[in-house]
Amino acid sequence: MSNIAVLEIDGKKYEFPIIVGSENEVAIDIDKLRSETGAITMDPGYKNSGSCTSEITFLDGEEGILRYRGYSIEDLAEKSNFLEVSYLLIFGELPKAAELEKFENDIRKYTLVNEEMKNIIDGFPKNAHPMGVLASLTSALTAFNPKSVNVTNEKDMYEAVCKTMGKFLVIATWTYRKNMGFPLNYYDNTKGYVENFMRLMFELPTGPYKSNPVVINALDKLFILHADHEQNCSTSTVRMVGSSHAGLFASISAGVSALWGPLHGGANQAVLEMLEEIQANGGDADKYLAKAKDKEDPFRLMGFGHRVYKNFDPRAKIIKKAADEVLATLGVDDPVLTIAKKLEESALQDEYFKSRNLYPNVDFYSGIIYRALGIPTEMFTVLFAIGRLPGWIAQWKEMRINKEPIGRPRQIYTGAPLRPFVKTEDR
Ligand code: SDX
Repeated sequence: MSNIAVLEIDGKKYEFPIIVGSENEVAIDIDKLRSETGAITMDPGYKNSGSCTSEITFLDGEEGILRYRGYSIEDLAEKSNFLEVSYLLIFGELPKAAELEKFENDIRKYTLVNEEMKNIIDGFPKNAHPMGVLASLTSALTAFNPKSVNVTNEKDMYEAVCKTMGKFLVIATWTYRKNMGFPLNYYDNTKGYVENFMRLMFELPTGPYKSNPVVINALDKLFILHADHEQNCSTSTVRMVGSSHAGLFASISAGVSALWGPLHGGANQAVLEMLEEIQANGGDADKYLAKAKDKEDPFRLMGFGHRVYKNFDPRAKIIKKAADEVLATLGVDDPVLTIAKKLEESALQDEYFKSRNLYPNVDFYSGIIYRALGIPTEMFTVLFAIGRLPGWIAQWKEMRINKEPIGRPRQIYTGAPLRPFVKTEDR
């Protein structure tokens, strides 16, 4: 492989260096393109554009490979736990037992959220979507923790990581408690991180919440599977906002807003709503496949397709297996799971989906497990955000430590040429 790419414009040749990553991915470094040629590239949605080099996550969309810091998602989902994977993503190595214990204890130092934050949540209507409330509360954390994150100071950075991991989980569950008109719960520092999520969500003043290890294990695995996914829409947003040196909370808040979209993290809620609609309409999955294929119909088969995976999404395979196990263990016979499997089977045999390499993605089965665990549909994307939090933190930290420049894409102007101002009376 040559280490130079040659571009010819108007008969003149220009050379640009080629970058090869540790997994042999190839990029053309066009840092000098505009200054040398006057031209820029055009790549709506950045399908062909790399924004950075990164040591955090590697994925191969053709082969269906996903690794965090070199460890396969299959290994981590089976053998690790969410807090350990969070440590791995953020600090780069699997922690020793004492390091993980310290990390968990340091997170516990910051699980109290300023009581005045309750005034903010009280300002929302009961039926406000939890993702909108979460984005606002996350940004509001900046007001109570104004010290901007000085990334060159390891201590400050570590404190910001632990604060974010501790407080985000609590305020995420407050969005549900607000919705239900329940009192807001506090983190219990004697219990584990994922177990706390279920307690924060469902414990009522009338009695203690009884944890089910099957539920905790399933959630832990789901959070691992959502923890990072290189430069997806919401992570790129976190990097972009952080590149202006906005703080960690403000950057994460922007990531929450990006994740909310139904084309991205909001798809897990949209999948369940689609499956329930199919169920309500007699379970006729083929009608929805036809709608998804009809170019006149804006309907897309939610939970199918992916910007990068043009083969199976390895996470979907793991989640589908977990869905069977969790529902069997909990004794849940959910007809929606049957509809999902029929929909998948029909789509994977259908020329339209096959020819476009459309496979189930991470969102297709996750909602079915969340529903079996008693999580309300409107909270599905909030759970995606809880899982993705360590990835957002890790990517933000890497971008700041690497002193990456402020993000500022160019454009090609196609509007009106110069024209003189026209007075109102002459228009
Ligand atoms: C996530 O990027 C990440 O890593 C994201 C994520 C992460 O972990 O962060 O993996 C999480 O966001 C998963 C994706 C969740 N979204 C959905 O499930 C929504 C439904 N999927 C689609 O909207 C779509 O597949 C996207 C947005 C996910 C991907 O869009 P692309 O790659 O831009 O695909 P495209 O728009 O170029 O489509 C190519 C063709 C088009 O048809 P033609 O113009 O060639 O005729 O495939 C069609 C599309 O119309 N198509 C679909 C479809 N997805 C693509 N047709 C029907 N149903 C679909 N779901």
